[in-house]
Amino acid sequence: MQARVFRSLTMSKTKTIVIGGITGGIGAALARRLVASGHTVAGFSRDPDKLKALSEELGIATCTCDATDCAAIEAQLPEFHQQLGSIDGYVHAIGSIYLKAAHMTPENDWLNTLHLNLSSAFYALRASTKLMMKQGSGACLFFSTAAAQTGLANHEAIAAAKGGIEAMVRSAASTYSSRGLRINAIAPSLTDTPLAKPIIGNPQALEFSKKMHPLGEIGQADHVASLAEWLLSEEARFVTGQTYVIDGGLSSVVPKPKA
Ligand SMILES: NC(=O)c1ccc[n+]([C@@H]2O[C@H](COP(=O)([O-])OP(=O)(O)OC[C@H]3O[C@@H](n4cnc5c(N)ncnc54)[C@H](OP(=O)(O)O)[C@@H]3O)[C@@H](O)[C@H]2O)c1
Repeated sequence: MQARVFRSLTMSKTKTIVIGGITGGIGAALARRLVASGHTVAGFSRDPDKLKALSEELGIATCTCDATDCAAIEAQLPEFHQQLGSIDGYVHAIGSIYLKAAHMTPENDWLNTLHLNLSSAFYALRASTKLMMKQGSGACLFFSTAAAQTGLANHEAIAAAKGGIEAMVRSAASTYSSRGLRINAIAPSLTDTPLAKPIIGNPQALEFSKKMHPLGEIGQADHVASLAEWLLSEEARFVTGQTYVIDGGLSSVVPKPKA
């Protein structure tokens, strides 16, 4: 009896969550977890075939939308809002990995990195907060990288873009806290998703990456999705303005030398 009461007190209420980048490694892992927990999920990305496959697998609404197009996001999120009745959570699982030293980075690559990572996040923040403010509640979640807080070689462009996301998250958390909104970010290190394929598909690079992590492994999409699910839940209702690093100890732990 006691166990039943405890369970009903801790169970999260069912939410409506929209995921940008829903067909990606982390976006799809999160969508699967949320649907399995009984939440209503919808989302977008650009490839219609991948969207169709995920919609059929999970029975969810999806559509194509390019997050670097401000007007497109401004139009798409209200459409989801109308379809779903509310948007309790918005997750922006869109971005890139760009590894080149600054002096080797062409201007166009720099601008594309900023546009895809930082501008798209800003557009999504604008569009989702407008809707959530009317509801008086909601949670937004963005993605940074472990390389934003820790100096890792050849990450200058992506670290700058993701560092911008972390700063945006803190400011937005302050702006919207009195409106009942929570804004947070997750900063993963190398995680096994399609985005990381060029690195982890190379056995030498994979071995090197594992050795950089004190826990001896790279991340899995579900590790990150599990943290994301918690940040969207009622259990995280006292958390805002934070960036949670999930990186097998890479950024903060000096491994004990092997005897
Ligand atoms: N994987 C890692 O090692 C790693 C490490 C640190 C941080 N992160 C961050 O974690 C987040 C999720 O990454 P992931 O590894 O899951 O990436 P992923 O597997 O490449 O998935 C990215 C998703 O975003 C969509 N997308 C890309 N560009 C888009 C655009 N302009 N408009 C709309 N949708 C777009 C992709 O689908 P379409 O291409 O079909 O549009 C896909 O659904 C990103 O912000 C990434 O920077 C990842």
